[in-house]
Amino acid sequence: MTYALPADAALLRPVRIGYADARNRLFMAPLTRSRAQDDGTPSDLAVQYYTQRAAAGLIISEATAVSASANGAYLNTPGMYTDRHEAKWAEIAESVHEVDGLMFVQLWHVGRMGHPDISGVHPVAPSAIAADLTTHTPSGKQALPVPRALETDEIATIVDDFRAAARRAVDAGMDGVEIHGANGYLLHEFLSDVVNQRTDRYGGSPENRARLAAEIVEAVAAEIGADRVGLRISPGNGAGDMHEVDDVAAYEALLSRIAPLDIAYLHVLIDPDVPAFGTLRGLWSGPLVLNTGREVDTRFCQLEELAEWGVISAAAVGRAFLANPDLIDRLILGAELNEPDVATFYAPGPVGYVDYPTLAEAELKNA
Ligand SMILES: Cc1cc2nc3c(=O)[nH]c(=O)nc-3n(C[C@H](O)[C@H](O)[C@H](O)COP(=O)(O)O)c2cc1C
Repeated sequence: MTYALPADAALLRPVRIGYADARNRLFMAPLTRSRAQDDGTPSDLAVQYYTQRAAAGLIISEATAVSASANGAYLNTPGMYTDRHEAKWAEIAESVHEVDGLMFVQLWHVGRMGHPDISGVHPVAPSAIAADLTTHTPSGKQALPVPRALETDEIATIVDDFRAAARRAVDAGMDGVEIHGANGYLLHEFLSDVVNQRTDRYGGSPENRARLAAEIVEAVAAEIGADRVGLRISPGNGAGDMHEVDDVAAYEALLSRIAPLDIAYLHVLIDPDVPAFGTLRGLWSGPLVLNTGREVDTRFCQLEELAEWGVISAAAVGRAFLANPDLIDRLILGAELNEPDVATFYAPGPVGYVDYPTLAEAELKNA
């Protein structure tokens, strides 16, 4: 598969993201790779993996748990809640900065997607409604259990875990954090009018369903500065067995509430052709990052148009960055892209992680 960006492509122009200038508008989307150490410390290979991809305008890290109990959706996912975690993230930040990269850490609570055999605790969610899914645990594939509905007074602790993890990320030298409000995890579960059946101030009306995500954005912005905070949402996305009959109202409430903060960016995972995108785009005047998830040729063509028209500030790209550390160079040259190997997405070790060749390496090998 190939796609050639025009030499003066809008996606190749710099863009202001909060306090920082990204050197282009092709961002690396967050990608869980399940290669962290057993205690949630990123592996040594993670330093190499992210540094290889530092030509992205912004690297958004894999989802990273804000506490031990926020973890548990997959094996070997990283955390940002111990000194040891922070020290390894600091190595990653330093290495990415050495090659002029920019990097935010995606902060995560898995909600009902957790399994106690991975996290050691029973998963929590807005309501006791299970996702009809399985996950890989140390003893093999298992169904996700019915989560425990959070008590109202437990929620402040979760907000504080996000705040503390954001502090650690910045102390580690990261440029900022992205709050994970997408893909069926805790914040998305609260936003849903189906999965969230609460009757307290965190459920019911759109404003109430948006409250947890808004409180987290506000707390993190107060801790590290709004210009270092991004928020990812995926309205209507069915990942994680999510259901939303109304995929707009809670998001409208969320964006209206956080608009005055002037956060670094809003990251939306959505098909830009669905009506919800137009509605939310109309509400958001700050930087907007879009992740579509389409075939390579149609996708880059569409993203370039949207960037040129000023509809989006930047595009986040996942699998193409996973398989092409030199994606930007390849798009400039219109060179063939490496295909991502699905079998090694979540497998341990270097294969399918740090061994995707750059063009120069591929040419050397073929010479
Ligand atoms: C292996 C893999 C891991 C992913 N991990 C995350 C993650 O940690 N956080 C997140 O928000 N999205 C995650 N996603 C979703 C991607 O960020 C992105 O939305 C999706 O891959 C579609 O974009 P793409 O077609 O450019 O890959 C993951 C996707 C894949 C394929």
